[in-house]
Amino acid sequence: MTALLVTNIGELVTWDDDRPILNDAAFVVDGGKIAWFGQRNEAPSADAVRDVGGAAVIPGFVDSHTHLVFAGDRSAEFEARMTGQPYEAGGIRTTVAATRAATDEHLAANVARHLAEMRAQGTTTVEIKSGYGLTTHDEARSLAIAQQFTQETTFLGAHVVPAETEIAAYVELVTGEMLERCAPYARWIDVFCEDGAFGADESRAVLEAGIAAGLLPRIHANQLGLGPGVRLAAELGAPADHCTFLSDADIAAVVESGIVIGLLPGVEFSTRQPYPDARKLLDAGVTVSLATDCNPGSSYTSSMPFCIAVAVRDMNMSPREALWSATKGGAASLRIDDVGHLGVGAKADFAVLNAPSYVHLAYRPGVPLVVG
Ligand code: NIG
Ligand code: FE
Repeated sequence: MTALLVTNIGELVTWDDDRPILNDAAFVVDGGKIAWFGQRNEAPSADAVRDVGGAAVIPGFVDSHTHLVFAGDRSAEFEARMTGQPYEAGGIRTTVAATRAATDEHLAANVARHLAEMRAQGTTTVEIKSGYGLTTHDEARSLAIAQQFTQETTFLGAHVVPAETEIAAYVELVTGEMLERCAPYARWIDVFCEDGAFGADESRAVLEAGIAAGLLPRIHANQLGLGPGVRLAAELGAPADHCTFLSDADIAAVVESGIVIGLLPGVEFSTRQPYPDARKLLDAGVTVSLATDCNPGSSYTSSMPFCIAVAVRDMNMSPREALWSATKGGAASLRIDDVGHLGVGAKADFAVLNAPSYVHLAYRPGVPLVVG
């Protein structure tokens, strides 16, 4: 394996404790990992050199929340929302019908296509959920497909109760036979804890069954209104994503438990919901992750730079905080420590920007700044 020196970096974001951001920097990649970083004039020699011409280099984005295994299109629903219709959790069933009807090959090609979009925009680690199958067969094949692309797979059989099914019977299926078939393909278990989906008791039952099967819990919480989801997450030590609505009691429970809160700006954008105030969480010392929630219903963006721009513009995050949340915060949410930063020993997952500073990610919204 040959060592590569990446040099002439105008601004290098490492998130290293002592030197989180360096100017006029360089780093060495050896064996796929960061072997050295520092000032460019102090760089060791290497087998190959890449001169990035003064560009900014950042850690690759860690998109800790996506629903990429799906088929079908829901642009009509989006159009209706933009002319006044509210977002409804029931729309998930439209995608369920299309996903069940699709072949494995079609679903895998769809995942690959969206991942290619993500990579072109700087994302190097992606979590992928099931949740548009809702039968044992369709959830298991969704996860088997997801697992072809990432280790960060999440069983979301408890996404919504399928049409013409009793919730109690469905929870029994999700926590029984479906879990047994899906657990081998998943690292995480998730539940949509919300009015219209699963209540506190059902959500707890789903997550506890998943934990008993060796999966790690995470939750879709407080997306459409206040509810028990965030406090359940705090109790179980699970990352809670969405959190569009948070009470003071929720924030107190989050602070006390130290759980990671995942904010998903694409959802508020695409559903015209109010943006959560990230400032309130950050000022309370909460670890915040940012993710796309890429899915055909509530947030059909694959772009972490877009999420950063919206988080800065409308959720009161500084550009630096938003970049941290989109990289190291995502890694914290997924409990992986060798991605989301460029310290020595980290995976050499990085993005070169066609810009002198990471600030351009928010300053130049919608512009394809990632060059590789
Ligand atoms: O994370 N909240 C639940 N699930 C998705 C939306 C899914 C859909 O509308 O298809 C989400 O926003
Ligand atoms: Fe989601």
